[in-house]
Amino acid sequence: VDGQNLSYALVQVVHNAGAVSVAGGAAFARWGGRDAPTRRAAFIVLFGWAAQALSGATFGAISYAYYGQLPDLHGIAVAALVVKMVCAACGFSLAAACLVRQGHWPDARRGHVWDLSLGLAAVALIAAAFLRWFS
Ligand code: HEM
Repeated sequence: VDGQNLSYALVQVVHNAGAVSVAGGAAFARWGGRDAPTRRAAFIVLFGWAAQALSGATFGAISYAYYGQLPDLHGIAVAALVVKMVCAACGFSLAAACLVRQGHWPDARRGHVWDLSLGLAAVALIAAAFLRWFS
């Protein structure tokens, strides 16, 4: 088994699980009804964004370990990567704010925050497709 491919595949397992967590967690909190345990959802989404940032960085580290340099990205691929990083930073902050503050928020505000969180996940997934095919 090729070690490099195995490393990428294992990191991709984490990265895919993180993508499901951020999108699924926000969708559940948003549409799961009034009884949806939003605090648990906020934890899942928080860890999901962190997993995306860490596993995304690990992709770069693997490339560096095997080639002595980071992937040579240009144009659309760089823009897509920046979009993903911004989404991860905003999504993580939003989930953290939700954990700390949501007890003080009215239902409408909570709903808007989960809409935004879901939107960030959608944008990140769209950017992932562009990164994949323009890199
Ligand atoms: C700091 C943030 C992130 C970094 C550095 C990062 C980096 C990467 C890299 C290097 C790849 C492999 C690209 C390739 O196949 O050529 C990848 C794939 C992928 N990323 Fe991310 N990512 C980040 C955040 C996210 C987020 C937030 C999501 C979704 C919510 C996401 C979803 C995906 C998906 C679905 C793939 C697989 C694409 C495919 O092969 O079709 N990533 N990411």
